[in-house]
Amino acid sequence: MNSSVAQNTISGSPAGTAQKPKVPVSIESFLLGFKVPFDVYSKEGIGYACILKKWTKFDQDIKASLKSKGILYLYVEGDPTQIKEFFKAPSSAAPKPAEPDYHSYTKTKDEFHHVSKLVFAPGSRVNFSIFNNVGTQFSPLIETMPDRHVPVTENIKTVSGGLAIKIADIKLFREYISGLSKTSSTDSSAMQAKIAGIKESAKMNIRDFLSDPGSSKNIDGVVVSANQVISVLRRKEATLSNMLTVSAGDMHLYNHSTNVAVLSTAIALAMGMDQSQIEKLAMGAMMHDVGKKNLHSSILHKREALTNEEFVIWKKHVTDGISLIQNNGIPREAIVGVQQHHERVSGLGYPFGLRGIAITPFGKILSLVDCYDALTTRRPFKQPLTPFAALEKILKETGEKGNFDPELVKLLVKILKGQGRI
Ligand SMILES: [Fe+2]
Repeated sequence: MNSSVAQNTISGSPAGTAQKPKVPVSIESFLLGFKVPFDVYSKEGIGYACILKKWTKFDQDIKASLKSKGILYLYVEGDPTQIKEFFKAPSSAAPKPAEPDYHSYTKTKDEFHHVSKLVFAPGSRVNFSIFNNVGTQFSPLIETMPDRHVPVTENIKTVSGGLAIKIADIKLFREYISGLSKTSSTDSSAMQAKIAGIKESAKMNIRDFLSDPGSSKNIDGVVVSANQVISVLRRKEATLSNMLTVSAGDMHLYNHSTNVAVLSTAIALAMGMDQSQIEKLAMGAMMHDVGKKNLHSSILHKREALTNEEFVIWKKHVTDGISLIQNNGIPREAIVGVQQHHERVSGLGYPFGLRGIAITPFGKILSLVDCYDALTTRRPFKQPLTPFAALEKILKETGEKGNFDPELVKLLVKILKGQGRI
């Protein structure tokens, strides 16, 4: 941080102290090389720290330093009208920076990791910053540093949209999750946080696996998470709804892969499949889209329909995935599940166009669940289908084209109905 930057921390609203209003302003609205005629603060837990004294020049070094700490908004103290005029931005209430384009968003989202609101029980203290993700926007809710634990405020559970942390803080978040698993409290919100922690741990283990599928440590992490998910669902410690990841802008592969694992496990348990088979199925589910790591972002995140040439490249993610995992000691059944997750009972799937009994039960389960989760996933520029509408579409495809196994579709409908999701 620039040496001219002040570092005094003050409480957010100390009793008996009249404070001047603070207006949130995106750091992008600060003109580089210009002196700012206001005191400027950053959020520190529930308080504020003065980081720029009045008439300090805002320069590139300050901006870069703030960005490296994940600080995207500052709080300018003074008359809101004067602040508005100086920054020429309508910022009297919530910050509303310009909507970035889709390309910027796909880049920005890679700086963040989505987390569940459920892991933050009242009284939790965190030493990592937490952001609110609405659509394409990430704005800070709690800003802190690794050496500073601050309480999580209750409003974190009620904000619209999802929560995210910076990628750089995943290690700290893992430590926080590990603390949840050690709780002996039987309080319902503590139990809920503990279960949500298992799901969050699965998301992070899948994320690690997707980034380096050849690492035996990462494969072990997937096995641990597969067994934890099975255990939670088998013992009915959580409902399916608690275990499914749903948040705004949730287009990350690790979220989708976790959901596919949860739903596949629920189906397998309902079928009475044995433990070792369910473990292999859950592993296949967590790994099924690993080949997408080879897909270029321009295809992976394309908003419009893919061209024929692009679809050919897209389809390669299945065989690419097999190449990435086939010699790493992963059970054969799991690999076959990955290989068949886009096949259709009708023979209209890919990459091999397998039909009927040529597709294994793992392939049939994964193709159905993968399709259901894709249809019900919210994306920044696309509304998701409701579970009911998604099942209607799947039932139609099953009836007209014979794409999915009708018995499995019936089971999925029964499970979702039993959980009150449709
Ligand atoms: Fe896929």
